[in-house]
Amino acid sequence: MARPGVTIRDARAEDWGAIWPFFHRIVAAAETYAYDPAMIEADGRARWMVGPPGRAVVATDGDGVVLGTANMYANREGPGSHVASASFMIDPAHAGRGVGRALGEHVIEWARASGFRAIQFNAVVETNEPAVALWRSLGFEVLATVPQAFHHPRHGYVGLLIMHRFL
Ligand SMILES: CC(C)(COP(=O)(O)OP(=O)(O)OC[C@H]1O[C@@H](n2cnc3c(N)ncnc32)[C@H](O)[C@@H]1OP(=O)(O)O)[C@@H](O)C(=O)NCCC(=O)NCCS
Repeated sequence: MARPGVTIRDARAEDWGAIWPFFHRIVAAAETYAYDPAMIEADGRARWMVGPPGRAVVATDGDGVVLGTANMYANREGPGSHVASASFMIDPAHAGRGVGRALGEHVIEWARASGFRAIQFNAVVETNEPAVALWRSLGFEVLATVPQAFHHPRHGYVGLLIMHRFL
């Protein structure tokens, strides 16, 4: 359920211009995603703007300002396609005001309505305390930690968590 003042809708091609500045900032920081920090805009767009049967969405405020974005998709193909996955990026200028929680709840509702049986996050950086706390509070548990799988610019080699919840 979206927080008051936060609307979640399908991302449109023209939203990318609002997404890219904070997407780029998050990727370049290299603290939360195992993406190439030098990723160019076209590759970012191709990676993020997932089409059907997946979705990309934006969270906007009452003035239509994009506060954050998420995408969601089947984690695997064929016999693994009943487990969903998703990715989230909230503009750091708007972090801590419930946008991530609203998008997380939205993804759970989407996955349930789409017939998935579970959601798996494949690579949550263990030092990403806001994300780990948020996913735990939304019912995800840590199945395993892949040790030293992420090279954090300040913390060095840290683990990647596999987080999961049934629907
Ligand atoms: C992690 C992220 C998705 C959280 O989104 P957000 O909009 O800032 O978070 P919210 O305001 O919805 O907070 C939800 C919960 O997150 C946790 N949280 C948020 N900020 C936190 C902080 N600074 N420290 C610890 N926990 C925090 C709390 O559990 C909070 O619960 P509450 O609702 O009881 O306060 C967002 O900061 C982000 O996009 N970060 C960069 C990219 C990223 O890490 N993506 C996720 C990869 S797995």
